[in-house]
Amino acid sequence: MAGVTNAPFRDLCRSHGAGLYVSEMISARGMVEGHEKTFRLARFGPTESPRSIQLYGTDPAVMGSAVRRLVNELDAEHVDLNFGCPVRKVTRHGGGAALPWRRRLFGDVVAAAVQAAGEVPVTVKLRIGLDDDHTTHLDAGVIAEQVGAAAVALHARTAEQAYSGRAQWSAIAELKSAVSTIPVLGNGDIWLARDAIRMMSETGCDGVVVGRGCLGRPWLFADLAAAFEGRSADTAPNLGAVVTVMADHARRLCDWHGEVTGIRDMRKHVGWYLQGYPVGPAARRRLVEAHDLEAFVACLSEMDPSITLPPEAVGLPRGHQHGPRPVTVPRDFWVDRDDPTPLGAAADLAASGG
Ligand SMILES: Cc1cc2nc3c(=O)[nH]c(=O)nc-3n(C[C@H](O)[C@H](O)[C@H](O)COP(=O)(O)O)c2cc1C
Repeated sequence: MAGVTNAPFRDLCRSHGAGLYVSEMISARGMVEGHEKTFRLARFGPTESPRSIQLYGTDPAVMGSAVRRLVNELDAEHVDLNFGCPVRKVTRHGGGAALPWRRRLFGDVVAAAVQAAGEVPVTVKLRIGLDDDHTTHLDAGVIAEQVGAAAVALHARTAEQAYSGRAQWSAIAELKSAVSTIPVLGNGDIWLARDAIRMMSETGCDGVVVGRGCLGRPWLFADLAAAFEGRSADTAPNLGAVVTVMADHARRLCDWHGEVTGIRDMRKHVGWYLQGYPVGPAARRRLVEAHDLEAFVACLSEMDPSITLPPEAVGLPRGHQHGPRPVTVPRDFWVDRDDPTPLGAAADLAASGG
């Protein structure tokens, strides 16, 4: 998740449970052009394993070069390609979740990544399509399989839906039926481990991808590992356990970014960690306004560790909920699905989201 899954957050999640923790979305073009910010975002932790990175791009040649750099210079061990971004400034150039509509171009982009990656597995993340009248997941899943992707993941919403409503898990089942030789991973609305088990049994998918459910809840990965081993585990820690993780998270961010940026980055996580807990606005504000690690930890220590999460707050959605909103694509975009011409640099703009 852009703006969230940096190396310290991935490391924190990994400390809670088994899983593959993918980087924030990185621009393939930024990588090829050597932009400093792109390389900063792409940095792995010193002991990170496996080194997993998500790329965004629309041009086969650019994607191939970016993957080669990632594998050769940054020792990436897994590359995920994001074709799920619903943001208007990307889709209006035909990028993001719009790209799979141009199925030949989509296939060329994935094939270029797979070839450049050599032995390193390349996976593909999709949405259902642009809107209900322009779905792409089945074609795109089959094409990705044919050109050598190692797995496909589906965020079971259209770009038009953005993050609104319920994910349409039936589309994951459809994709599972269409793709036969590589794993299909389901994504959308996994808030608790039991949601993952339910998604797998309802859709037949081979695994799950978690986004918003881990915001302020990195222990979800421990719950998932337990649930996959057949133990039931939906943890609702008391506030004492939550603030211990918050302090750990803040320390990791400060070690990674330096204290000023680290504490600033931590601000966005405060509301997620405290979601549902009866903690008043003044205490929340003090945390968000803390200007260094010591002050942040001091505010945490003032909280009552015995506070519990009310049962009605367990498993509630968190993070983005916005949408639906109309999707914009270039003029005549719908006409020729088999036009392989790259879309131009404007479509390579990396905006956050999936
Ligand atoms: C803040 C935020 C940033 C995101 N950034 C990305 C991204 O960079 N790449 C991506 O594939 N998906 C991104 N997503 C989408 C999630 O990975 C996921 O597909 C989506 O939220 C639905 O799954 P969920 O219900 O588990 O959250 C982002 C979501 C959020 C909320």
